[in-house]
Amino acid sequence: MNPSALKGRSLLTWIDFNPEEIRYFLELSKKVKEEAKKGVRKQRFKGKTIALLFEKRSTRTRAAFETAFGEEGGHPVFLSNQDIQLGSKESIEDTARVLGRMFNAIEFRGFKQEYVEILAKYSGVPVYNGLTDLYHPTQALADVLTIEESFGSCKGKQLCFVGDGRNNVARSLMVISAKLGMHFTIVSPKELWPDNELKNLCETYAKDSGSKLKITDDIEEGVKGADAIYTDVWVSMGEEALKAERIKLLSSYQVNAELMAKTGNPNCIFLHCLPAVKGEEVTFDVIEGPQSRVFDQAENRKHTIKAIMLATI
Ligand code: CP
Ligand code: NVA
Repeated sequence: MNPSALKGRSLLTWIDFNPEEIRYFLELSKKVKEEAKKGVRKQRFKGKTIALLFEKRSTRTRAAFETAFGEEGGHPVFLSNQDIQLGSKESIEDTARVLGRMFNAIEFRGFKQEYVEILAKYSGVPVYNGLTDLYHPTQALADVLTIEESFGSCKGKQLCFVGDGRNNVARSLMVISAKLGMHFTIVSPKELWPDNELKNLCETYAKDSGSKLKITDDIEEGVKGADAIYTDVWVSMGEEALKAERIKLLSSYQVNAELMAKTGNPNCIFLHCLPAVKGEEVTFDVIEGPQSRVFDQAENRKHTIKAIMLATI
């Protein structure tokens, strides 16, 4: 793969990238992390600017973009929807064209996937999806990096997502797993299974990569043999009104010591994109226990986001 093929590209979902390109981002992330550990400071974004658009709140994603861009000499500008006109007083198309004249790249976190697509289409600069209702691609790259740090290659490893199987994190993990040849299972009540369209699309990638995809509501069958158990909040940002319904649907899908034991794998790790609601989707003992890798994951957001920006700007 010629790395110059990535210049100018946007990351809206991993659907748009082939396995070789995703592996390039991963290997660059490892290199960037090593540099950071050695204290190597380069100035690869000197004189450059990035706009960070946030309709929803964030700790990790904002901090990762700001620090990764800033420590390379670039100037990040944070714009929440209290600051700018996005979609209310000004069309997304116009905002995109204005920002594209002033910035070298744009990050967007918000509700509609359509918005991030319009930003990419009209701005003329690389646009990064920092989470929408449908996808959270930068998270998924950090998750694969964390899995590879534990086990070496992710190919043939068994990742199992337990919980709201149709949310942005689960959907992104299904795409990246299918592309990279990692086996991926969603364990979730039927009401929260991802749509067939995405599953069928991912099956076509899985055929090429050797990944096995499975969706089940059976906990025992789903988690058996897992190398990594992953969960996320039961109520994603923007869905607060559904809280009572979700608790009813998902209570028996809590990740606790008993569920971790059902994997039958003492080396199984626990992953969570954070923020977590301890006592709901995961118990305190699991997230704080020796199997948990959640703070490595959080740190890896920064290294992977830096790699994505380096490769595309
Ligand atoms: N995991 C993640 O995206 O965290 P933030 O919502 O804090 O950015
Ligand atoms: N599914 C969660 C992820 C947060 C990082 C949400 O969308 O709120």
